[in-house]
Amino acid sequence: MSNSDFNPRDSFGSKFGIIAAAAGSAVGLGNIWKFPYVAGQNGGGAFLVVYLLFILAIGLPVMLSEFSIGRRAQRNAIGSFKKLGPGTPWYLVGVMGVAAAFLILSFYSAVAGWTLEYITKSVTNAFAERDENELNQMFVSFISGTWRPLFWQLMFMALTAWIVAAGIKKGIEKYTKVLMPLLVIMIVVLCVRSVTLPGAIEGLSFLFKPDFSALSADAVLSALGQAFFSLSLGMGTLITYGSYIRKNDNLSGTVIQVSAADTIIAIMAGVAIFPAVFAFGIDPAEGPGLVFITLPNIFQQMPGGYFFALVFFILLSVAALTSSISVLEVVVAYMVEELNLARKRATVLATVMISVLGVFCTLSFGVMSDVSLFGMVFFDLMDFTASNLLLPLGGCLIVLFVGWYLGPGPSRREISNEGEIKLGYFPVFMFLVKFVAPFAITLVFIYGLGLMRL
Ligand code: PFF
Repeated sequence: MSNSDFNPRDSFGSKFGIIAAAAGSAVGLGNIWKFPYVAGQNGGGAFLVVYLLFILAIGLPVMLSEFSIGRRAQRNAIGSFKKLGPGTPWYLVGVMGVAAAFLILSFYSAVAGWTLEYITKSVTNAFAERDENELNQMFVSFISGTWRPLFWQLMFMALTAWIVAAGIKKGIEKYTKVLMPLLVIMIVVLCVRSVTLPGAIEGLSFLFKPDFSALSADAVLSALGQAFFSLSLGMGTLITYGSYIRKNDNLSGTVIQVSAADTIIAIMAGVAIFPAVFAFGIDPAEGPGLVFITLPNIFQQMPGGYFFALVFFILLSVAALTSSISVLEVVVAYMVEELNLARKRATVLATVMISVLGVFCTLSFGVMSDVSLFGMVFFDLMDFTASNLLLPLGGCLIVLFVGWYLGPGPSRREISNEGEIKLGYFPVFMFLVKFVAPFAITLVFIYGLGLMRL
């Protein structure tokens, strides 16, 4: 018997379901598309070391804070702050999170739409016999078009909405339980293929041999930003998911497993990509095109490439989908609980509004490419505002809320399941939450402002 038998609120029905859904949120385009190219641009090994440090010192405490707020309050991102900090302006942290969800999904769905197009390109063997320039041209002419990228973006939004509309146990949990293990199997296949290529060792040493002389201040700050985005922190996604975790489940155990899954998959994405990049003489600092331009080139040059390209782009779409449903859920849970809308109606409303924003993101590579604000096209503006401003600020306020406003009492009770679980590490958690995490997150925020002045 589950919580929802007693409680009108939906919840995850099993421990594995929680892990799959939360890890599904964390693992996405951020790991597979962004991590390799950001690591590639920032020197590889040394970037990885700093990234791992940030996951440990900041990612874990922020994630535990989000889960504990959500499960204690049993509400959505805004409602949780209203309940735990009644009569205070803390609920604005949740408002910022819902706003960030709108912005993130508008550009995330654009890139996710590209992955769907690339599945069809793989099916029709469109990469065969094409060199780097032709593949580059293929990518640019696709993203700068109007109807094709819009079609795929809207398809992706419809898929996301379909899963979210079905609710927690029948929707999110059911699909992520199947999709996540599939994802891991696909990456393992790709890693095996990549590390058995001639010259693979160079790619592995790029990723695993730190050269700290190549590490700039910029790289350190991008590692922090990447850790943040990759773990889905700072906008109440994990507050919302935390509210669906049952009271007898172990929060810190879930945090460790989700962060480990996210980190291992990012590293596996690196292992799948860098050896191949080096084996075929591609520049590891290629940038955001690494996946969409370089990989098809690599795939079509290797035996079995048709199959591997198909597997890879299915994998990328699956990863994007399990993340996008968590972003949409932030908005839908808010509308259902605070605005009293029916779940299906809320899902449709949120999807339509986000899709309108999303259309502008997609068109900013084509017909709207010369429309810019603060020197950024619409796509970049959404990404910048959400990732560099709203997430760091939100994350900083979340740990301040737990560390200074709520204080140790309620947090200890929630995390220990009202005293059932021993928490030897609790003073370390409080220290990280009160001092270390806010300080480091402030750095990310300053970095964002620094970018704005460029
Ligand atoms: N963590 C996701 C990724 O790495 O692709 C992106 C994301 C999902 C960010 C949910 C923020 C969020 F709330």
